Amino acid sequence: MIVLKNVSKDYGTGEAVVHALRNVDLEIKSGKMTAILGKSGSGKSTLMNMIGALDKPTEGEVFLDGVNITKLNERELAEYRNKRTGFIFQTFYLEPTFSVLENVCMPLTIAGVNRKIREEKALELLTLFGIPEKKKKLAGELSGGEKQRVAIARALINDPDIILADEPTGNLDSENGEAVMQILRSIASSEKTVILVTHNREDAKRYADTIVELKDGKVDRVLENMEGGKNENPR
Ligand SMILES: Nc1ncnc2c1ncn2[C@@H]1O[C@H](COP(=O)(O)OP(=O)(O)O)[C@@H](O)[C@H]1O
Ligand SMILES: [Mg+2]
Repeated sequence: MIVLKNVSKDYGTGEAVVHALRNVDLEIKSGKMTAILGKSGSGKSTLMNMIGALDKPTEGEVFLDGVNITKLNERELAEYRNKRTGFIFQTFYLEPTFSVLENVCMPLTIAGVNRKIREEKALELLTLFGIPEKKKKLAGELSGGEKQRVAIARALINDPDIILADEPTGNLDSENGEAVMQILRSIASSEKTVILVTHNREDAKRYADTIVELKDGKVDRVLENMEGGKNENPR
């Protein structure tokens, strides 16, 4: 369980201060998909950065399974980010001049894992997502839908228990968007915690177990969604 206690985040100071999050109290269940909905500027990405420990709150605390991650030192934070979280972004952030396999392997390469082992693991994920034959292609040569599959494989290769996806379908056509939502749903159904930021209320309703609506940096409402977990394609 991820718990945010009275989390506020300000950017800037004095007259230029922006209150991106205001006193957010929130519990996010493990092994479920939680969708974060809200207008542009409502604080969705800031909330993701707090949970993923990419940035610290100005005030308040974030707990993961009872551990206060806002109190971790730099080394512990790096370990938390590497081992426990996987990020997926709208713009993929792949290394375009590296091969698909190299991109997926990257977190393990950085961790110093042996090449044969990391490539086997990467290929397993690419196979799961239906693109094993792309392994030698340069990432820059892929379609958007393929790029996002590669980015998801990279996010999963360290076997993190929290997947943070910030508008992952924002640059995809509806067919590829649908496929990516199916993949995220199946990840949540395999006991991982998926936190999805989306503009798309329909996607949230179809796939998420819980829907959190942000408004002006505050939690506007939290909805338990009975339909969410049912819309997974049987594999
Ligand atoms: N690094 C930053 N510096 C200054 N202001 C920021 C920064 N990041 C976000 N903001 C501001 O904080 C508010 C929330 O932003 P963000 O969390 O990105 O919202 P969302 O993801 O919902 O569009 C916005 O007003 C945005 O302009
Ligand atoms: Mg955002």
